Order: sequence, then structure tokens, then C-alpha cells
Amino acid sequence: MRRPFIAGNWKMNLDRASAIALAEGVVREAGKCEGVDLAVCPPSVYLECVGKALARSSVGLGAQNVYHQKDGAFTGEISAAMLKDLGCRYVILGHSERRHVLGETDEEVNKKVLAALAAGLTPLVCVGELLTEREQGKTDEVIRRQFDRSLAGLTAEQLVQLVIAYEPVWAIGSGKVATPAQAQEVHLDLRRLMEQRYNKEVAQTVRIQYGGSVKPENAADLLALPDVDGALVGGASLKVDQFMGIVAGLKE
Ligand code: PGA
Repeated sequence: MRRPFIAGNWKMNLDRASAIALAEGVVREAGKCEGVDLAVCPPSVYLECVGKALARSSVGLGAQNVYHQKDGAFTGEISAAMLKDLGCRYVILGHSERRHVLGETDEEVNKKVLAALAAGLTPLVCVGELLTEREQGKTDEVIRRQFDRSLAGLTAEQLVQLVIAYEPVWAIGSGKVATPAQAQEVHLDLRRLMEQRYNKEVAQTVRIQYGGSVKPENAADLLALPDVDGALVGGASLKVDQFMGIVAGLKE
């Protein structure tokens, strides 16, 4: 019912030539894949050249951030309309590196989500707890707070247009992947939150990706979970064979 969705978050990696080569490699392999949505999210300066490499393929283009204002004196920022103009379909918002390294708040994420939706982009909204929060038994509280605040004020029609990514912060780039039981528990919690605020249909419609050290070796177990609808992949999305190895995990 929910179509699996696997996206690569390239973060601040690669150069122009390697970004184009990676995109071309993904396009080549994507032609052999059916029944899954694929996307790559390069650094913003490479959106245009990667977009060209993806042209006429089914692989979507995504950005890693956006600014909520439409235009004006906001030096260094990029608007949702500009991303749309470059051919972006998706934008990652509220990634833990933006929250914890760059100090982005739920309120800022919320403004960005609304701006992205208004421009016709699909936000991939990240939520996830720190290791200390998990150890203190606060995971559900943190997820609820991020859900409530980052997605504040959205109608049901808006919510079904976005994708949520559950990314435990301790699993990102650490090689420590969540166990299938840990991932499934939070994904189910997120569906309960959507059901409480909206309804069952909304809860069953929105796709929830898992992210955090997803690799070809652990992808099949995670992707087989009933409430996991795909993956947001960092490190392993920088190599065609690894990224496509994760996609292959859908069939196992
Ligand atoms: P990782 O990153 O796969 O390198 O852990 C995931 C992410 O940050 O989206």
C-alpha cells in the first residue's frame, strides 16, 4: 500500500565530477528497480548538475535544507521556490546534524516544512532521540515533542504529502544501527501520534523511513518491518553498489 522510498543524503561530500558520476551510476541501476521510489540529495551547489544527470530517469532530486522566507535579504539562504526551480522534488528538513550541530529548533523546522509544502516540495522530516535521551527512557517523549512542534499546524492534506524519517541520533554515522525492534517501536509510535492528531487513514498513508547506519548488510531486516517504508541513507549512499545493495534489501 505504501510504496517504499529510499533516499540518499550525500551531506557535505563529493565534488562536482564525483557527484555527477554517482548520480549517473544510480540512474543506470535504478532502471532495473521496480516498485520503489528513489532519490538523491546532493549538496545544494551540485543540485543543478546532479539534476541534469537524473533527467528522464525515475530518480528524484532532493535538497538538504531550505530557508522558510520566500525571498529577500537573507544572505546565504536558499528558498523553496529556488529548489523547485532547479527541479527538486524533495527536501530533507530537521536532520539531526542541523538540529544538533547547527542549532536548528523545532519551530524553525516547522516554518521550513510549511514553506516547502507551499512550494510543492515533499519534505522528508527527520526526528530522532539522542543516546542520553534513549538511556533515560525519554525516546517517546522526544519523538512526540519533535512531531508536535516540527509538524505543528499542518492539515491532514498537508501531512499526507510529506515523509517522516526516524533517525536515532546515536545511529547516524556511528555504525550502530537500531535493532529492528527499536525501529519498529518508534515507527509504530509515530503512526499512533498521527492517528491521535488526524485519523487512521492519515496514519496508514504517511511513509516513515528509517535512517542511521543503514547498510546492505542490515537493510533487509529493517525494510521488512511492517511500519518501515524505506530508508534515508547517509554514508552508504555515496557508493552506487552500497546504495543499490540497500535497495536490493527490499526484495529479500
Ligand atoms: P548514515 O546517515 O547512514 O551515515 O548513518 C544517515 C543520515 O544522516 O541520514
